[in-house]
Amino acid sequence: MSGHSTYQPKTGFERWLDARLPIVRLGYDSFVDYPTPRNLNYWWTFGGILSLCLASQLITGIILVMHYTPSADHAFASVEHIMRDVNYGWLIRYMHANGASMFFIAVYVHMLRGLYYGSYKAPREVLWILGCVIYLLMMATAFMGYVLPWGQMSFHGAVVITNLFGALPLVGPSITTWLWGGFAVDNATLNRFFSLHYLLPFMIAGVVILHIWALHVVGQNNPTGVEPKSKADTLPFTPYATVKDGFAMSVFLILFATFVFYLPNALGHADNYVEANPLVTPAHIVPEWYFLPFYAILRAVPDKLLGVLAMFGAIACLFALPWLDTSKVRSMRYRPTAKLYFIIFVVACCILGLCGAKLPDDPVLGHFKTFTLGDADLNSFVWLSRFASLYYFAFFLVILPVLGLVEKTLPVPDSIASPVLSHPAAAPEQATAAPEMKG
Ligand code: HEM
Repeated sequence: MSGHSTYQPKTGFERWLDARLPIVRLGYDSFVDYPTPRNLNYWWTFGGILSLCLASQLITGIILVMHYTPSADHAFASVEHIMRDVNYGWLIRYMHANGASMFFIAVYVHMLRGLYYGSYKAPREVLWILGCVIYLLMMATAFMGYVLPWGQMSFHGAVVITNLFGALPLVGPSITTWLWGGFAVDNATLNRFFSLHYLLPFMIAGVVILHIWALHVVGQNNPTGVEPKSKADTLPFTPYATVKDGFAMSVFLILFATFVFYLPNALGHADNYVEANPLVTPAHIVPEWYFLPFYAILRAVPDKLLGVLAMFGAIACLFALPWLDTSKVRSMRYRPTAKLYFIIFVVACCILGLCGAKLPDDPVLGHFKTFTLGDADLNSFVWLSRFASLYYFAFFLVILPVLGLVEKTLPVPDSIASPVLSHPAAAPEQATAAPEMKG
């Protein structure tokens, strides 16, 4: 996709290095001269934002570890020590804790962008699957990180989630004991979670490199879903994409800073400021917001094993997506019916998130209205999460496979440049200058 390298070393040292390790050439070809579709919108800036989030988590995490003690007796106190005694320790910790939430906000936008514009379709299946691997690693990392402060929610959250594996037939209890490193969540569990929480972000960084490599082999998708055909369809990555990414990152940092400086505990849970006590179970154990939709799917199913399978199945659907969507048209911009189902899908995910945060028996409409079906009170969050879970699976397993075969799509432009350059907003000189531009 990127074609021949146009890098020309200028100094003697650059020539010397280029003949031995062409790393500057690699950087130039990937981030300066790289041909980028000219119509990318701001949804395409979230990959860069995610790279920023990863870097921020790595740096703040490494500094936190300098003061953190991974032991059941000292972990909680060491976190309080970071907050009170270490210079700017509060800042580093709040950046790391809120940074995890920012990371998930960005990854959900990035994934929904991919879903809407069909970025998972051939030839980008491997790119998408590497993204799904990153997402799984992110979830494992965030879960284990949340256990480290050894507060009440850390401890009891770890108990609930590790116990899920116990639902597996035959091997379940042994797997749980193996995960715990003993017969309960205890010091051994905290130690291994700490070790893995330190390791996994570096594995994420490794998979991100593969992700970007795969991206550069097949090239970026774009809002039309039409592959670039001529030089007029692309612009060089620098300055066009770099400036746009830089602006988006700055705006994102404002949101991040708002949480860190004004709402540092808004996304956390008060119970986690109480040291872990195995003998006192919090009244309501809730995971972090980014896990809530999956937690709701888990609780929507009355059987524990089936609930666990549904939860993992919900993630498995993402991996299978490139083969589930049968549509020949990539971007939902030209698929009005798919667009409608996509919007309902986003709403269903939000409803699942809401349901995951509530007690299953809480009434949705208060106590005034009751809808019953047999013995079931349909006016409860568990029923709402059942409907939303059904839609989640139906979207992947029925709607996308069937709709792709039967829907009536809108005409797709024959090239990226034609709708951009014929748009009334395109300046005449831009329209004529475009073919000359580097691509
Ligand atoms: C640490 C997490 C991640 C990082 C740093 C990252 C980075 C990037 C970057 C820099 C791009 C190119 C710019 C852009 O299109 O926004 C990109 C594209 C892409 N990413 Fe990710 N990504 C991450 C996670 C994911 C996840 C979880 C998925 C999906 C499950 C995913 C799927 C994709 C796809 C399909 C593209 C191509 C988009 C297109 O060209 O239309 N990525 N990613």
